[in-house]
Amino acid sequence: MNDNHSLINWYPGHMAKTKRLLQEQIRRIDLIIEICDARLPISSRNPDLGQMISNKRHLLLLNKSDLADPALNQKWIGYYRKQGTDAFLTDAVRMKGKETIGAIDRATKDIVEKALAKGVRKTVRAMIVGIPNVGKSTLINRLYGKPVTQIGDRPGVTKSNQWVKITPYLELLDTPGLLWPKLNDQTAARRLGYIGSIKDDVVDLYDLTISLLEELCRMIPDKVQERFRIQDTEKKGIELLDAACTGRGWLLKGGQYDYDRCYNVILDEFRAGKLGRITLENPPEDHNRETMNDDQP
Ligand code: G4P
Repeated sequence: MNDNHSLINWYPGHMAKTKRLLQEQIRRIDLIIEICDARLPISSRNPDLGQMISNKRHLLLLNKSDLADPALNQKWIGYYRKQGTDAFLTDAVRMKGKETIGAIDRATKDIVEKALAKGVRKTVRAMIVGIPNVGKSTLINRLYGKPVTQIGDRPGVTKSNQWVKITPYLELLDTPGLLWPKLNDQTAARRLGYIGSIKDDVVDLYDLTISLLEELCRMIPDKVQERFRIQDTEKKGIELLDAACTGRGWLLKGGQYDYDRCYNVILDEFRAGKLGRITLENPPEDHNRETMNDDQP
């Protein structure tokens, strides 16, 4: 990847808050449900989570799997399971809550059975954690069956940190733990920008869009030609933006290129899967291959 892009430095103030929340709640929690983005199954995780939750039971959900390359989805699941991580593919928007509840039941079966042996029907308590935009709230609402925020909408009722009943024996903390991505690798940082896990207002959209277009031109040149009507996908930098503006007619009244529109549409279309199902990282043993799948969703 061309590295003439501005550096992304982003340290959200939530780090301390989530650590505190985890410290406060960890004794009450039986299961940590970590969500990452299936399009970036390593970079959308926080490698320090393991330390923060020590030996708590842990489930990893590769969410937005509907936007990721299906073959690589399977490879990633195989990779994580081989490492001993309980991993599942999810699509929090479309899935039935039942599937995830089944995975939670399986992950905590022994805890429940141990308690049953002592004559106690245990309620399993789970907490969802993950970096921004991976689908934490969507999953909580999906499991709960309606927006959890309604719970706190009555006056005098605290909005956060309540346990919501998912089934008679499963409770979920209504506030997900917000993790932060590690940004020491600038390629990973930019990719987190593409998927919207680093907010658009803290990144240079000009750089981000060029960098995304350059990656897409290498991975799926035909799709880029078709979608953005860029004939020469060997172009680099601003020439790529200009070609997309010409191709798609993103022009201002005086005929100048409408770059704001260009950034917004290119990022939105990528994020919505309009260029196909794309996974941006390979499992380590498959490291050298660029990835793509050009199914149109
Ligand atoms: P967060 O709490 O982790 O920050 O994420 P959140 O649930 O708010 O989800 C972020 C965006 O990702 C939402 O879209 C949500 O609909 C979408 N999303 C969540 N899970 C999935 C999934 O598995 N597949 C797909 N395709 N999308 C998913 P949004 O456009 O920001 O908001 P909205 O307009 O959908 O409400």
